[in-house]
Amino acid sequence: MSTPASPAPPLNSSSQHPEPAEEYPICTCFQVWESTIERAVRRLGLTTVEEIQRATQAGCGCHTCWPDLEEILARCARGEYKFPLEDGAQATPQPENQPTS
Ligand code: FES
Repeated sequence: MSTPASPAPPLNSSSQHPEPAEEYPICTCFQVWESTIERAVRRLGLTTVEEIQRATQAGCGCHTCWPDLEEILARCARGEYKFPLEDGAQATPQPENQPTS
């Protein structure tokens, strides 16, 4: 007796991280790597290219990388991540049994 195969989980969902992607500098003017930009977007909740510029300097030169920055923003908005957050940055433990006043 066999059981039907369950469907494969979706790739790039917010609950999964694919293998670390091969990365390259998105912004060659300032040598800002894709993982740096993605992590800044996630940690700081960035939603615009201007916010990425302020946080990472990416996009502050020739502007050639702006389409890539916009793609990273769109990808992160969909919950599709290429790079895991570094250890200790994924969640803040909530204190238990807080005293009530
Ligand atoms: S490549 Fe990013 S500003 Fe020039």
